[in-house]
Amino acid sequence: MSQKHTTLGEFIIDNQKHFQYSSGELSRLINSIRLAAKVVNHEVNKAGLVDILGAVGETNIQGEDQQKLDVYANDIFMQTLTNRQIVCGVASEEEDDFVAIESNNGGHNNKYVVLIDPLDGSSNVDVNVSVGTIFSIYHRVTPIGTPVQLEDFLQEGTKQVAAGYVVYGTSTMLVYTTGHGVNGFTLNPAIGTFYLSHPNMSFPDDGNIYSINEGNYVHFPQGVKDYLKFCQEEVDNRPYTSRYIGSLVSDFHRNMIKGGVYLYPTSSKAPKGKLRLLYECNPMAFLAEQANGVATDGYKRIMEIKPTELHQRVPFFCGSKNMVADAEGFMAMYP
Ligand code: AHG
Ligand code: MN
Ligand code: MN
Ligand code: MN
Repeated sequence: MSQKHTTLGEFIIDNQKHFQYSSGELSRLINSIRLAAKVVNHEVNKAGLVDILGAVGETNIQGEDQQKLDVYANDIFMQTLTNRQIVCGVASEEEDDFVAIESNNGGHNNKYVVLIDPLDGSSNVDVNVSVGTIFSIYHRVTPIGTPVQLEDFLQEGTKQVAAGYVVYGTSTMLVYTTGHGVNGFTLNPAIGTFYLSHPNMSFPDDGNIYSINEGNYVHFPQGVKDYLKFCQEEVDNRPYTSRYIGSLVSDFHRNMIKGGVYLYPTSSKAPKGKLRLLYECNPMAFLAEQANGVATDGYKRIMEIKPTELHQRVPFFCGSKNMVADAEGFMAMYP
């Protein structure tokens, strides 16, 4: 069958051979994410027609106003992963603590944990701008048969088994890696099937797009301010183009295709950065590295940071390798 007609379902089965001792559990897990993504996509697409826009009036553990779609997407992913008995635990941006999941027989026999940002960029929902879902999958480290523990979730990004995102954009795409490159699948909404549309995705080594919330400029570290000045200089192929959607998934997706750098640095307003290490930065870092890109905190590799808490925040510099290197060069002047 030509690549043009390969479905995500077929691709998952074909690629099971990469996992020597595979029980098919990871394939089932990715299939369940595919299913939940389709349900969320359906709701996101009709958001203006049904009563699902706006805030719920609650604050999540992050201190953010939860949007109705944050809660909806979280419920769908939690239910799908729980009911289908696929994983032993889930941690979510929208849950205070991780959730342990029992297997059918009342034991704790599943081997994977999932960390998830159910709806990324949720402030964009009300204005019909692209949002996403981000997921990260690990083997548990505690013994099978016992309830999952915090340490199963606090693993370095280098230990990820798979990671990916869904972008609910002009078309809906699921992009993921199991450590063998990055592949993108586009949903045909008429028949509800994802097709391989972007095989072997790759960041160009260089680019001319920089993505940062420049409204925070006065609060940025001097290294970032200097790098932004560099981006705006009239030298060589600069000034670069500034593009910032405010949905990490969408900003990353564009930069991967076109070449660019995404920066969410520390600021005096967010002294540890804003993005969450476990369910935003690590999965995006794994995808970036699998796609010829780089992800650091401005000084060191994101995936080597040892997590200390579930909702930990880190600065995030991610994208085309030469652009991240330039940004790091400016950061290094202010160690
Ligand atoms: P979330 O909607 O999951 O809370 O994530 C929001 C994140 C990310 O998607 C985006 O890049 C960033 O926050 C935008 O932050 P600012 O509005 O501070 O620029
Ligand atoms: Mn949020
Ligand atoms: Mn997010
Ligand atoms: Mn979110």
